[in-house]
Amino acid sequence: MDYSTSTALITGGASGIGFAMAQRLKALGATVVVCGRRREQLEWAAREAPGIHTLQCDVVIQDERERLCSVVATRFPALNVLINNAGIQHRPPPVLERQDWSLWQREIATNLEAPMHLSSLFAPHLCRAQHAAIINVSSGLAFSPISFMPGYCATKAALHSFTLSLRHQLRSTPVSVIEIIPPKTKTDLGGKGLHDDGVPLEEYADATFARLLAGEEEIGFGFSEINRRASREELEGIFARLNPR
Ligand SMILES: NC(=O)c1ccc[n+]([C@@H]2O[C@H](COP(=O)([O-])OP(=O)(O)OC[C@H]3O[C@@H](n4cnc5c(N)ncnc54)[C@H](OP(=O)(O)O)[C@@H]3O)[C@@H](O)[C@H]2O)c1
Repeated sequence: MDYSTSTALITGGASGIGFAMAQRLKALGATVVVCGRRREQLEWAAREAPGIHTLQCDVVIQDERERLCSVVATRFPALNVLINNAGIQHRPPPVLERQDWSLWQREIATNLEAPMHLSSLFAPHLCRAQHAAIINVSSGLAFSPISFMPGYCATKAALHSFTLSLRHQLRSTPVSVIEIIPPKTKTDLGGKGLHDDGVPLEEYADATFARLLAGEEEIGFGFSEINRRASREELEGIFARLNPR
């Protein structure tokens, strides 16, 4: 897969990990389209990385996902890379307390329903390319959850499972299915400050991008690389360390 001649759509690509990938793809020569909800964030991204294209879209809304697919197919017919990166993280009160269920629903819709639906919407278009990729951004917490964010970890575990099925279904097509598995990385995920003790974004993005260009299918880093390769017994130990009694 030659990413330098690719046309890529990155959901949630105007900030954090998505924007870091957008910058690297653009620098390589790719045509890059990013989408997100906040207009001012999209405008910031377009100023920071001149030449990238922006589209306002809320991937939680089914109609907007369908509109995104038809707009992108019309305006960027050479599209051959979909990066399902948009994600949110909700830290709810303990399950025995009263919940705002709409926040759980939004998290499930953003992190799981949207990448599943967008994969199926874009797959027929991507199959017509000579080489193509669907890249899903999951999490090291897909393999070993932290119990105070049960919904988030469950969406990422399910996205990992979906990615395995998608890869198998598309194995005889030009579409490679890739999973990027970040560890805790310094972005604004979940709100400002919550990830300040994560891996520096540029360091993480450089390492991940190099492995993407090298053709790897599952790409972790640090903690998430250990998690994705861990045995069942090792995962039990990791769970105990992440969730002290
Ligand atoms: N940072 C970490 O520690 C970490 C670890 C593991 C996995 N990840 C995953 O990495 C991905 C990127 O997160 P990040 O850390 O880079 O955080 P981020 O900077 O907050 O990026 C998330 C992006 O998703 C977009 N987004 C959220 N809801 C959306 C919606 N309904 N429609 C369209 N776009 C939406 C946001 O833009 P708008 O708000 O403008 O819509 C934002 O640009 C996520 O899937 C996250 O779960 C991150």
